Amino acid sequence: MSNLGEQIKTMKKITTAIKKDFPIFKNNKGLVFLDSGASTQKPKVVIDAVKEVYEKHYANVHRGIYKLSEQSSELYEQTREKVAKFINASSEKQIIFTKNTTESINLLAFTWGMDNIKKGDIILVTEMEHHANLLPWRELAKRKKAIIKYVPVKKNGRLDLNKLDSLLSSKVKLLAIAHMSNVLGTINPVKKIIAKAHKKKIKVMVDGAQAVPHFPVDLQDLDADFYAFSPHKMLAPSGVGILYAKEEILESMNPFLVGGGMIANVTHQDAEWNEIPFKFEAGTPNIEGVIGFGAAIDYLSSVGMKNIFKHEQKITKIALRELSKVEGLKIMGPSDNKDRGAVFSFVLNGVHPHDMATMLDEQNIAIRAGHHCAQPLHQSLGIEATTRASFYLYNTEEDIYKLVRALKKVKKIFK
Ligand code: ALA
Repeated sequence: MSNLGEQIKTMKKITTAIKKDFPIFKNNKGLVFLDSGASTQKPKVVIDAVKEVYEKHYANVHRGIYKLSEQSSELYEQTREKVAKFINASSEKQIIFTKNTTESINLLAFTWGMDNIKKGDIILVTEMEHHANLLPWRELAKRKKAIIKYVPVKKNGRLDLNKLDSLLSSKVKLLAIAHMSNVLGTINPVKKIIAKAHKKKIKVMVDGAQAVPHFPVDLQDLDADFYAFSPHKMLAPSGVGILYAKEEILESMNPFLVGGGMIANVTHQDAEWNEIPFKFEAGTPNIEGVIGFGAAIDYLSSVGMKNIFKHEQKITKIALRELSKVEGLKIMGPSDNKDRGAVFSFVLNGVHPHDMATMLDEQNIAIRAGHHCAQPLHQSLGIEATTRASFYLYNTEEDIYKLVRALKKVKKIFK
């Protein structure tokens, strides 16, 4: 698909053209896929890129002195360059390939965290964190006798920024914050928050798993110290994660996993580590997954991240309006379109989210039900579980109406 971004003017044109690029929709007629927050579908170009690696270029990377290995290494490293450009990192050395966002944050907690967090230090997290940006820090705090403090979420689904200001003390060593909540859809003003934290010499780790797939993210502009996200949530194969960190911090960090591929020299007693980013990539990586990610970045770039965000903003506006017409339905996130993504977690009077998921599935609508790996947030909201519909570039306005019609049907059955 070439230069689609320029050709696409209206939402309808975008989604009609885009849906055709995803074989899953051809092979599952009538599917309304509303679980992209968990993982997205893959366009044919990504599937073909993976197939092509196996059929034409496959060999281990950074190890072989023969043509095939050189080819796969080059394709693999090309993706690193594409990632750096996509998030405007200042160097591809700042891009580390991991398994997923969870592993990226664990890497950080158990390297930088172990060496920099001391007894009595405060790690600030927010109440809206996914377990991935919460449990590694809690585990670290336990081991180091550090203190975890929470920035509360207000009733309107936004962070309590006044409280955040008052919590930014000199005892805080790290702030771990989601760029966009996977439950509430709230987009946090991370640029401003990072600037405030930096004034107090606090490092900031941003979980961008729900952000990078949906709107332009510029790491040089944000000035985050650490940033993680998951390619499988942005059209790429699963099994690849990204950790971005500032170069000087990466240089100072110890490796996470040790073994093959991450060394410069090993003797019977000693070892020297490879340069960054390779120091953090022990063992054979997900070669075809990373190369497939390169194809996903090309695809997203040709549509244009601004166009994708515009499309999702429109979806958000319509979804908020239409869902609010369903009697007894309560949306958990912000009720306005501003600084909010197309993720809607809701409860419907008298219907358990798991029953809801099953009944929607019977109508060919795939959504997620449960706590969405954010149990403390659900506890703060005073509920155990929600039903979540999350949208992406291939969802149409019609998908919203189908969801609303299906919800009304479920409601009738449970009356
Ligand atoms: N983090 C993914 C989600 O929110 C799995 O669904």
